Amino acid sequence: MRIDIVTLFPEIALAPLNESIIKRAQEAGIVEIHAHDLRSWAKDKHRKTDDYLCGGGQGMLLKPEPLFAAVEDLRQESTVVILATPQGRPFMQNDAHRLATCDHLLFLCGHYEGVDHRVIEELVDEEISIGDYVLTNGALASAVICDAVIRLLPGALGDERSPEEESFSDPNLLEAPAYTKPVDFRGLKVPEVLLSGHHGEIERWKQARALERTRRNRSDLLDSPPEAEEQ
Ligand code: ADE
Repeated sequence: MRIDIVTLFPEIALAPLNESIIKRAQEAGIVEIHAHDLRSWAKDKHRKTDDYLCGGGQGMLLKPEPLFAAVEDLRQESTVVILATPQGRPFMQNDAHRLATCDHLLFLCGHYEGVDHRVIEELVDEEISIGDYVLTNGALASAVICDAVIRLLPGALGDERSPEEESFSDPNLLEAPAYTKPVDFRGLKVPEVLLSGHHGEIERWKQARALERTRRNRSDLLDSPPEAEEQ
């Protein structure tokens, strides 16, 4: 897979992707990531990328010219153009699975009040939000989406871990609590059942704890309509 990220802050986009699993995925040739400074497509002498809102209103908006030029330079036949924006559809694990099947993702990162709407109408395939809060820019949000997608690419997690056995593989249930050694830490004990070796009982315990945790932290998942259960 190839990923291009167009942003005013290429270093913010790249920093989280240059460590650990995602770094190794790049080194292994599973993914190629390029971050570009939007200013390099601004043609005026001040390299201006933003301007005031037409019709008034607070803040600045990214101008269409540099974004159109960037997409026209970077887009290939199979490219999916994604705008990271709090106005987008919420990003879910099934989106990560879907995007992991693409050959080329091109991220546009909003800043200030966002981007000129002609960019969205003409260039953007998907507007994606990573949550109901507002970040200072879309570079971090793009990195979050990239991380969730790249770890699903074949080989990215190595042989020992499978993305299938984790929260959101069953999208309506969070994972059960998990413990490691020591079995007694300051008098806080690992639940007996996990040390019992009875796989059936351990599975039943995990199911019950997973349900309890989901009720406590994400009761909305238990109310989801059946169609939301599909990956
Ligand atoms: N840019 C700023 N906030 C964002 C969010 N919540 N999701 C995606 N992009 C953003």
